[in-house]
Amino acid sequence: MNFLMDNKNNILSSSGNFSKGLSPLDFVVFDISEFNQKNEKNYSLEIKGKKYKVDVKKIKTSEELYHINISSEQKDFYKNIFKESILAIATHRMIFDEKGQPVDYIFTDINEEFKNLTGLNSDVLGKTVLETLPETEKFWIKKYGEIVKTGKSERFQNYSVAFDKWFDVFVFKNQKDFFTTVFRDITEEKKTRDDLAYTKDFLDNIISSMPSMLIGIDKDYKINEWNVKASEITGIPEEKALGKDLRDIIESHIIQNALTSCDKENSVVKMDRVKGLINGRNDLILEVLIYKLDENIKDGYVLILSDISERIHLQEMMIQNEKMISVGGLAAGMAHEINNPISGILQGVQNIKRRLSPDFAKNIAAAERFDIDLIKLNDFLDDRKIDLFLDGIEESGFRAANIISNMLQFSGKSAGERKQIILKELIERVYELASNEFDLSKKVDFKKIQVDMSKVEEDIMLHCVDTEIEQVLLNLVINAAHAVFSHRKDDGRINFITKRKDDKIFIEVEDNGPGIDETLKTRIFEPFFTTKEAGEGTGLGLSVSYFIIKEHHGGDIYVSTGEMEGTRFTIILPGGRKNGK
Ligand SMILES: Nc1ncnc2c1ncn2[C@@H]1O[C@H](COP(=O)(O)OP(=O)(O)OP(=O)(O)O)[C@@H](O)[C@H]1O
Ligand SMILES: [Mg+2]
Repeated sequence: MNFLMDNKNNILSSSGNFSKGLSPLDFVVFDISEFNQKNEKNYSLEIKGKKYKVDVKKIKTSEELYHINISSEQKDFYKNIFKESILAIATHRMIFDEKGQPVDYIFTDINEEFKNLTGLNSDVLGKTVLETLPETEKFWIKKYGEIVKTGKSERFQNYSVAFDKWFDVFVFKNQKDFFTTVFRDITEEKKTRDDLAYTKDFLDNIISSMPSMLIGIDKDYKINEWNVKASEITGIPEEKALGKDLRDIIESHIIQNALTSCDKENSVVKMDRVKGLINGRNDLILEVLIYKLDENIKDGYVLILSDISERIHLQEMMIQNEKMISVGGLAAGMAHEINNPISGILQGVQNIKRRLSPDFAKNIAAAERFDIDLIKLNDFLDDRKIDLFLDGIEESGFRAANIISNMLQFSGKSAGERKQIILKELIERVYELASNEFDLSKKVDFKKIQVDMSKVEEDIMLHCVDTEIEQVLLNLVINAAHAVFSHRKDDGRINFITKRKDDKIFIEVEDNGPGIDETLKTRIFEPFFTTKEAGEGTGLGLSVSYFIIKEHHGGDIYVSTGEMEGTRFTIILPGGRKNGK
């Protein structure tokens, strides 16, 4: 057993007999002062459970040691391992205070790479770390202290202020308070790793925050990228989508064709207004962009699917609005023009009827002057059905006047005064009115239709011209009842639903009638558009409703297919409040 000692004689490192299975990692390092203090001749030392007797007198310096006990090959070998290691290696002795807390440590040996890496040299040997590098963080001393105390080796990465570097450090205990650190500089590596992680996070963020679906597939259509929007729209979470065949999720022939042309022309394929592409989502209108990835890096394709339903809907609404405003303006202008002659006709008929009546003294006197019997004249009118013609003129006049008063609503000005009302009460009133209206009609048995108002919220207040909103809802119910009754006789249903979101009020009227053909959806709001037989509907109901909601109340009205597969009209009105607020 021999020991290694530095030239200053206060540090002693030792090596067991290597040939007996000890490695340089078993170097034992201790302070010679211990021997001096103990003043013993023999000192017993334990390495790896084996006891070695140490003859203090025979303690050699490191230089001597290499010459004495190790064969020259072994000497070179271990010297090289320590000296020439590409890793920085240093041995230290931990200093504990009286409470047993680690407070500092002494450099006991350092190799070449340690010098290169830290810029320190052999002068540090025998000195403590805080003496040499006062800015050393407590972390290092504490960490090494624990390792020395527990004897458990550890590998960790940490930043050192003293060197302004990141280190990957392996630390193990030697003997007593001594420990060895083996480390390398990972500052660059860590920066690259951090940059890479940042770039990855950044890219992930871009992909997941994209307002469009982004799907990546390999050349066999297996999905390898599936962003948040894709999960949202398809309802399929990322973990379920990854690895699946895209054709199981997306209408295959459209994609197949697109991918083929993408392959052939090696270009970006763009498809506008694609419908029914995603299984189970027939309501979506998508814009599709497909491009091929660079084969040299990764084979596959990227698909970007953007939901443009809202945009298309808005565009259609804008066109609709333009059309309605011009048609409405025309209708309102015409209504003004026709109003006067119609009034003339109505007044004329009413005057004729009044002046022929035997109930007025003035008529009787005038008749006498011409020697006419008024009673007989009335019998004649009756016999020749002239009074019926007059009634007919009057009735037609009233109908025309009614149409005109509806058309005058298109002029943009609202007739009524705005009030704060409770929406539920208004809807109940509309239901009453509809029941009365249908009581007289033989075409629709309103009692047979189940009207559900359970989803009408109790406490929604609305600031509106109540008579106008009543007119709109009445028209919607009447339309719904007609549609439902034309379609089914017994299980007709109409649902009223109201909701409040932020400060908007949503009113929905939904039926289980035949629904409205897609091609007619934009036309139903036009004035005079009706599918009802002549005399049964003027086709003004929805156009008047449209103007009342959009022009008079600054809201919105649109039609869609409801949950009952029939028709759903949705009205959105601004400025809603909760009752009592
Ligand atoms: N709930 C519905 N289900 C099916 N079709 C409907 C529904 N509501 C309206 N429609 C269609 O829209 C057309 C226009 O409706 P609108 O209320 O403007 O006029 P109308 O009901 O025909 O006549 P008016 O209301 O003037 O008596 C109707 O003729 C009908 O074809
Ligand atoms: Mg109608």
